[in-house]
Amino acid sequence: MFSSRHQASSRIFEHNLRYIPGGVMSLNRKVEPAISFARALGSHMWDAEGNRYIDLHAAFGPYLLGHNHPAVNDAVISAMRDGMSLYGTGTTEQEGELAELICNNIPWVESVQVLNTGSEATAQAIRLARAYTERDHIIVMQGGYNGWHNDVAFNLMSSLEALGPRRSPGEYPKVPMSAGIPDAHRDLIHAVNYNDLDSIRFVCEQYPTAAVILEPVLQNIGIVPPQPGYLEGLRKLADEFKFVLIFDEVKTGFRHAFGGYAQLSGVVPDLVVYGKAIANGFPIAALGGKRRIMDLVADPDPSRRVLLAGTYNGHPVPVAAAIETMKLLLANDGQLYRDLEKKGAAIENALRNIGADAAGPMVVSRIGSAFCYYFMDHVPVDWHDILEHHDFSRDVTLRCDLIDKGVYAFPLAVKQMSISTAHTDADVEQVIDAMVPLLSTAQKSRDFVPTA
Ligand SMILES: Cc1ncc(COP(=O)(O)O)c(C=O)c1O
Repeated sequence: MFSSRHQASSRIFEHNLRYIPGGVMSLNRKVEPAISFARALGSHMWDAEGNRYIDLHAAFGPYLLGHNHPAVNDAVISAMRDGMSLYGTGTTEQEGELAELICNNIPWVESVQVLNTGSEATAQAIRLARAYTERDHIIVMQGGYNGWHNDVAFNLMSSLEALGPRRSPGEYPKVPMSAGIPDAHRDLIHAVNYNDLDSIRFVCEQYPTAAVILEPVLQNIGIVPPQPGYLEGLRKLADEFKFVLIFDEVKTGFRHAFGGYAQLSGVVPDLVVYGKAIANGFPIAALGGKRRIMDLVADPDPSRRVLLAGTYNGHPVPVAAAIETMKLLLANDGQLYRDLEKKGAAIENALRNIGADAAGPMVVSRIGSAFCYYFMDHVPVDWHDILEHHDFSRDVTLRCDLIDKGVYAFPLAVKQMSISTAHTDADVEQVIDAMVPLLSTAQKSRDFVPTA
């Protein structure tokens, strides 16, 4: 499991296994090679052995400004030095400043609440949608990830065996991602293909649907972009069937544009959820949208009121980090997004240029600072497409080889790679120099089989 290069990581993992079930604190971090990282700065991470890597994982997405950004860290340290604390009563000036920054810069967020994690925020968004519509059924995307809770922990990277043939219009068999989810929840969740409006209509005609929740770009499985008209069609279906359209912009929000993919697409959700890049790695999430839905958390009628609470909501440390991050994102009219676009395009062009030299079919998909390749002859439209056409084992092999070359890509197939403002042109060159030869040659394969 460990190469001789990772003796210290091995010792840490063996130690932690004695006390932590699975040995890691979030089980989706359990991958091979099981490297323990000890520190990170800017575009780099160092493992327990002292090896340096260019980071393309970005901890699943938060690091848009790079690790340990000095201004963000200073804002956090100042908040603590100034004696800010978690008072647990009333409001604070800082949480008002944060909410104003979001609402003033994202017009479809009329009001906003902050929570600690993306999963909390999607859970609350779904509860709000159910309260607002007085309906229970929820539509999720096959292959999407919206958190770990009972309403969404279904049909992630399900195997072809579990899913069977493509269903359109229709819904897939329910494939729970966790034991312990009551059947009652399962009955209320419907998984359909992304980019498939007919299947949304199919479910809505059969079940009173409270919400469709989706990543506007399906980024749990790389970068699967919406087909022209898909998001607009969803908006129309939401208006026709009166369900709440929830954009889960936990990964896309603040990374692709300050206002996330809604800003780029011009399609406005009813509710939107942010996390990750909102505070460049500090734990905070936001849930916002139409005031008439959001106001249910403070409805004077207790039978209509939605419970929204959390001991750590609005904690001054992540709030300070989020305010500073947002100021940096907004500076110079969002210049950093234009800079990231150039660096992302340089990587995309280099990978595309491999062309006929590629060891097999390959396409590149990218939005701004996030990109991925698929070993298939077209950019996928959904997870079923990927299952049928992508070469998973080649993908994992390439990632492991990249890690050996000092470029850390998460060693799980179809996970997108992300750069930050801390990635220099030299880093970009190094990434290209590492990737291009690997993509141009066939490698010995390391196994990956999608699990249910
Ligand atoms: C699109 C999306 N939604 C929700 C979540 C859940 O966020 P968290 O891990 O902060 O609970 C994630 C996490 O990866 C995500 O990518």
